[in-house]
Amino acid sequence: MGNKFIVIEGLDGSGKSTQLKMLSEYLAQKGEKVYLTAEPQNYETGAYIRRILSESLDRDMYLQAALFLADRLEHITHPTLGIKKHLEDDEMVICDRYYYSSFAYQGTASDMNWVMDINLKCPEIIKPDLCIFLDVNPKTCKERIDTNRGSAELYEKSTALMEKIRQNFLDVFDKLKESENIKIISADRSIEEIQADIRKAVEEA
Ligand code: ADP
Ligand code: TMP
Repeated sequence: MGNKFIVIEGLDGSGKSTQLKMLSEYLAQKGEKVYLTAEPQNYETGAYIRRILSESLDRDMYLQAALFLADRLEHITHPTLGIKKHLEDDEMVICDRYYYSSFAYQGTASDMNWVMDINLKCPEIIKPDLCIFLDVNPKTCKERIDTNRGSAELYEKSTALMEKIRQNFLDVFDKLKESENIKIISADRSIEEIQADIRKAVEEA
């Protein structure tokens, strides 16, 4: 399959980490060279973002969108660790979240079209070959977060906020349906059923 760029999106608690671990093991067994990565990254901007997410800092939504974009640009262009470098080396890049998360999350309290513009009109931002959205009922995600995590982050505070984020994702996918390859997978099912659909989508990409 080689140098494909694949993104997985979904609400917090939708099962992205669980599915990505299974997918990367499956692809590695098939002999693919896989680079598994995630946003936000751990560069300096990422550390700043983590403080905002944990609510030790309260920051404006436009500033948040700009920080996520800065973090994304470093994630793409870093000379040795960047997504572009891995693709040039013929690796398959699988990324947990990408610009769709900025549209859906920062779009809850800023002008979503502006967030889309600063990302999609930036020449360094690359378009994924496939975006898979794990669609799970926000109530289920919230229950999983409350059961499994010590404390909820900024965007995990209420089911109502998570409903709004899910709706933003669906609106964004509708806007991008002509220009991007987006697969929405119903993920209120067993881990194995979801994984089978993800593998099929990746193999068809
Ligand atoms: P994310 O990375 O999207 O935040 P995780 O993969 O960490 O989500 O999953 C959140 C929690 O839900 C974990 O405890 C995980 O074991 C559980 N989980 C994941 N997928 C399913 C599923 N299909 N059915 C039930 N529980 C699941
Ligand atoms: P995670 O590491 O558990 O996926 O958490 C990352 C959080 O950051 C999650 O709540 C989604 C949010 N986020 C944004 O708000 N905008 C973005 O552009 C990205 C990549 C993530």
